[in-house]
Amino acid sequence: MFLIFTIWYISVASVGTEELAHIEMIGNLFEQLIAGATKDEMKAAGFDGYFIEHGCNPFYINTSGQTFDTYSIGSKGDPIVDLYEDMAAEQKARITYENLIKMTDDPLLKDSLRYLREREVVHFQRFGETLRLAEEYYGSKKIF
Ligand SMILES: [Fe+2]
Repeated sequence: MFLIFTIWYISVASVGTEELAHIEMIGNLFEQLIAGATKDEMKAAGFDGYFIEHGCNPFYINTSGQTFDTYSIGSKGDPIVDLYEDMAAEQKARITYENLIKMTDDPLLKDSLRYLREREVVHFQRFGETLRLAEEYYGSKKIF
């Protein structure tokens, strides 16, 4: 049990650390995209409401304006359940990046988004490897 917990913890912690770096990258992209925008450009883009609430600072909301909350974290405390949840979250992040790529013509922004998309694919694969190990562990006979 300790080994499987350690593998699961390392997997979650290393992916989690990289996700924090992604937030930093997204924050920088966001800042660069809106730098120098005029109030008319912000209004035309539907960004005026956001600007009034948060200025030009990144804020944790999704594209529908919903704020991040603990319901976004699907942890049940069981490694198998949580790994499936993690893998689903990675796939949701992947398709979000793919949809963002479709929404821009900026080649540099597309490159950054493609990089982030690829990392989500790698995260999905790492969680999948950890899931296989956990399922093997829980599926094996225990002899004490
Ligand atoms: Fe990820």
